[in-house]
Amino acid sequence: MKKYNLLQEQILQLKKEKNAVIVAHTYQTKEIQEIADLVGDSLQLSQFCASDSSQLIVFCGVHFMAESAKILSPLKTVLLPDIHAGCPMADMAKASDLVKFKKLYPEAKVVCYINSTAEVKAVSDICCTSSNAVDIVKSLNAKQVIFVPDQNLGNYVSTFVSETEFILWEGYCHVHHLLQAADIFDMKEAYPNALVAMHPECRKETLEFADFIGSTKGIIDYVLGQEHDEFIIATEQGIIDRINILDPTKKLYLASECLLCRNMKKITLEKVKEALENNQYKIELEENIMNQARGSLVRMLEVSK
Ligand code: 13P
Ligand code: SF4
Repeated sequence: MKKYNLLQEQILQLKKEKNAVIVAHTYQTKEIQEIADLVGDSLQLSQFCASDSSQLIVFCGVHFMAESAKILSPLKTVLLPDIHAGCPMADMAKASDLVKFKKLYPEAKVVCYINSTAEVKAVSDICCTSSNAVDIVKSLNAKQVIFVPDQNLGNYVSTFVSETEFILWEGYCHVHHLLQAADIFDMKEAYPNALVAMHPECRKETLEFADFIGSTKGIIDYVLGQEHDEFIIATEQGIIDRINILDPTKKLYLASECLLCRNMKKITLEKVKEALENNQYKIELEENIMNQARGSLVRMLEVSK
């Protein structure tokens, strides 16, 4: 039997009373992961929220993730336990700037990374996550693609789709972008037997040191699927707790202390309890923005079936 602390017990009781479901991104703390009905990457969380029947979702992640859940299930109540848990990269692209930018490339299709606002999704052709981005771009058969907002993911995807010209927005995730090739070099010297698993939000020159590149789910599957037992992990540190829960025998080394997303860590057990008690903070969006943004997300889910 799983052992929970008092706060976790109280949350699970409230969750039962309210018929709620709790979902958590892989970057959440261990104690949040332990009480979640599903822990996953952005794609898994979107797919789950779109198909689950519960009318109340407590989303332990950042704002764009909870917003995507609401867009896909507009009749459900979606709660984000800390309304200030945002994603700075998502805020690097404004819909009004993207609309102006699109005019410079009238033939281009717009692919928005799910780490974007609802307004940006509303003016994009299709959405993608780090786990399906290559398939999404390939599905378009486009001559030109505007990829927004993550230049690093866009760059990485472009290496798989030579027939498409990529026009990259200059956004980035400060957590992954800070990681330098020299950090990986030092880690490989310290742990010569370890394999290196990286998220595609890292810089191009850093990705060159990777044995594996993938989304958070991709990294977890890779580590669990290898007989090898030592890995240098180049993505946010919450994933180490996730892998430890799933397989405590793996030896995992965080590539750098910079790999900490403070926004993800704004979600605490106390705030999850308050969210359930006070029905806070509800994700609310303008109807027409939601309807337009849903098109981009639904098209993505169709390709990722
Ligand atoms: P995943 O889609 O791999 O879960 O990544 C989300 C994210 O925010 C990475 O920084
Ligand atoms: Fe955004 Fe980066 Fe945090 Fe992911 S790790 S939520 S991209 S700031």
